[in-house]
Amino acid sequence: VVLTQDELKKIAAYKAVEYVESGMVLGLGTGSTAKHAVARIGELLRQGKLKNIVGIPTSKITHEQALAAGIPLSDLDSHPVLDLAIDGADEVDPFLNLVKGRGGSLLREKMVEGACKKFVVIVDESKLVKHLGGSGLAMPVEIVPFCWKFTAQRLQSLFADAGCVAKLRTFAESDKPFVTDNGNFIVDLYFKKDIGDLKAASDAILQLAGVVEHGMFLDMATTVIIAGELGVTCRVR
Ligand code: A5P
Repeated sequence: VVLTQDELKKIAAYKAVEYVESGMVLGLGTGSTAKHAVARIGELLRQGKLKNIVGIPTSKITHEQALAAGIPLSDLDSHPVLDLAIDGADEVDPFLNLVKGRGGSLLREKMVEGACKKFVVIVDESKLVKHLGGSGLAMPVEIVPFCWKFTAQRLQSLFADAGCVAKLRTFAESDKPFVTDNGNFIVDLYFKKDIGDLKAASDAILQLAGVVEHGMFLDMATTVIIAGELGVTCRVR
């Protein structure tokens, strides 16, 4: 039987939920993989197999889904330290560094997941890469709307040697800018060549005024659960 990508995402998500224990404060991720984990946590609460869970959502959409699933919710102001977060990723490198944010929720994800004792990432095997940003896919950067072209141009110049092209994210059906949960825009960076040292790239991006956050999650994941055709594997940092 060949499993669909969605079935693989669900397998990884269910495996991650095995790490959840009653009484935990949980970071609830965003995206098509994380939504399976949120649904599963709701189901286990309804069955009485989990109790006293507090969920901290990483986006408005996850907030809605978790509320509907019956998960009691709170925020980082009330719970500055979380036991565990479960979330998907767009890319995972061999050192468990991630690219996130192709769904647009990188800022809240980084705030919540940076406050967790344990961060379990759930992916199907298509997300594994050798180098972040090397797959020709988007590296998202959340920026303020004010003079976004100026900021996009500066981001592109920063990585001129890597053949970077910076594009404002728009809705597929129009050229209206995509607006994040925080009222910001997203510029997607596309690289023709390897961007080299990730920490240096991260620092350089964050130094630009106008940048709010980027989608490289370096040294944050503690465990990555990978679902593939041959089964589930787990990498721990
Ligand atoms: C949301 O902005 C993202 O960071 C997602 O967590 C990430 O894009 C993974 O999403 P999928 O599970 O839908 O691939």
